[in-house]
Amino acid sequence: MNRKVTVVGGAGNVGATVARAIATKELADVVIVDIADTKAAGIALDIYQACPIDGSDTRVMGGSDYAATANSDVVVVTSGMPRKPGMSRDDLLNVNYKIMQAVTEQVVKYSPNCIIVPVANPLDAMCQAVFRLSKFPRERVIGMAGVLDSARMRAFIAMELNVSIKSVHAFVLGGHGDTMVPLPRYSTVAGIPITELIPADRIKAICERTANGGAEITKLVGTSAWYAPGAAAAAMVEAILKDTKAIMPCSVYLTGEYGVKDQFLGVPVKLGKNGMEQIIEIKLSAEENAALQKSAAAVKELTAVIGV
Ligand code: NAI
Ligand code: 2OP
Repeated sequence: MNRKVTVVGGAGNVGATVARAIATKELADVVIVDIADTKAAGIALDIYQACPIDGSDTRVMGGSDYAATANSDVVVVTSGMPRKPGMSRDDLLNVNYKIMQAVTEQVVKYSPNCIIVPVANPLDAMCQAVFRLSKFPRERVIGMAGVLDSARMRAFIAMELNVSIKSVHAFVLGGHGDTMVPLPRYSTVAGIPITELIPADRIKAICERTANGGAEITKLVGTSAWYAPGAAAAAMVEAILKDTKAIMPCSVYLTGEYGVKDQFLGVPVKLGKNGMEQIIEIKLSAEENAALQKSAAAVKELTAVIGV
């Protein structure tokens, strides 16, 4: 195919799911890179052997050599430690920062014009690390978290009202951590705000479950989630490669938007062939804005620790 997507960390749970989704959707050829080189080769072969069944002409290859990644259009970075039960995403800060340092150098060397989609946690801090290390313009470093968090909220709303999940839209902004900001006023069922459909105490419970969505799965499974995270990253790749101009909540570098300056935070953006093509500024209430600023401050604490 004439497009190439690299998934660094693609021998792991989230990365393999992203790679498989891209192959199934026939979006691009896929290169899986992982320090677990034989596993990367094996996962790539397994995904490629699914392609004749899926009817996809995607070519999939895997290993530890970045040469095969040269001139990728998009690089998804899932390399990083996942959390175990009881761990917060922030506990991964230092170890995953070291991985970002090693990975970003290679990504920039082989694909200087790519768009990077960081996924490793703590997400917003890792985005900022990749942004600083790569020296890419902000349009080309776009973190995945809000698509996942909003999907979780959509699932909980659909469960609450027993309606088609396709009729539900939800927006979750802020950092990908305990301080994330679900926005019920902008979350709708067939265009109707959920504040008109669900009692306040149940909305509060849905928002809390959304913010704890990652921990809920980690407790049940013993490691963090991968199906929804993988689908979320693949949806972002699809919007970029197909230049759809989809509006999705993503972690991007803010330079004053939403009153937040010089740091990454989850906000609604337009995704297209140039990466992050526009930041959509929606009007927040005083309470929503206070929650967003608190979330921004939590991200800033982490980036200060690693000095990015
Ligand atoms: P995993 O352990 O299954 O996979 C991680 C992979 O990264 C492994 O295959 C490992 O060999 C590889 N790796 C480690 N260091 C590397 C390096 N220097 N170069 C290349 N590959 C390297 O973990 P999983 O479950 O796939 O999670 C990956 C990351 O994504 C974690 O940090 C997790 O917290 C994060 N995550 C983020 C989400 C989000 O919403 N942003 C959602 C789910 C997970
Ligand atoms: C999640 O939200 C752990 O960030 C990961 O599932």
